[in-house]
Amino acid sequence: LLTALAALVGGYLCGSIPFGLILTRLAGLGDIRSIGSGNIGATNVLRTGNKGLAALTLLLDALKGLAPVLIAKAFGTEAAMAAGFGAFVGHLYPVWLGFRGGKGVATFAGISLGYSWMVLLPFAAGWLLTAFITRYSSLAALVGVCVATLTLFILGENMLGWLYVGLTALVFFKHRANIARLREGTESRIGQKG
Ligand code: G3P
Repeated sequence: LLTALAALVGGYLCGSIPFGLILTRLAGLGDIRSIGSGNIGATNVLRTGNKGLAALTLLLDALKGLAPVLIAKAFGTEAAMAAGFGAFVGHLYPVWLGFRGGKGVATFAGISLGYSWMVLLPFAAGWLLTAFITRYSSLAALVGVCVATLTLFILGENMLGWLYVGLTALVFFKHRANIARLREGTESRIGQKG
């Protein structure tokens, strides 16, 4: 239990580093929270017009999910699950930003890779296919997390599957404004400002 708790806290601290905010500040682009959707994630960093910075945000936000899981894996499955959950919650609710963090998509991808390629692949396929067809990053994320979760149950990985049900619920909750905009037809498409 102590190991799992340490993994949870370690994961949280790692996940709570707001790379999107730090990178855009360092690049002199101002506060990302007052641009576009106000989110600190790569999709919104792309709205500043800086593709490189958006890619770096995606990479680092994924890495902060991947690293804790890989490290904790050495201490067993439960520790790896705790680390992934911690990193995810850290990204969504960072103590440093008054618990107002991101939407968890890049971190979800990193955590998934940490568990297995078999989890990342269905997520990435769902994301890419939806993004390619609709150009909505938010919708792509919602489809991707559902596909990843379903895959886990199909593979019989039920314990991880239930963790993913939790992660998926949090992703949907964090995207509630996006979902409302999708329903109204006012959601911005990938690369679009605003
Ligand atoms: O990865 C976050 C994405 O799904 C939505 O971002 O900035 O359009 O709210 P955003």
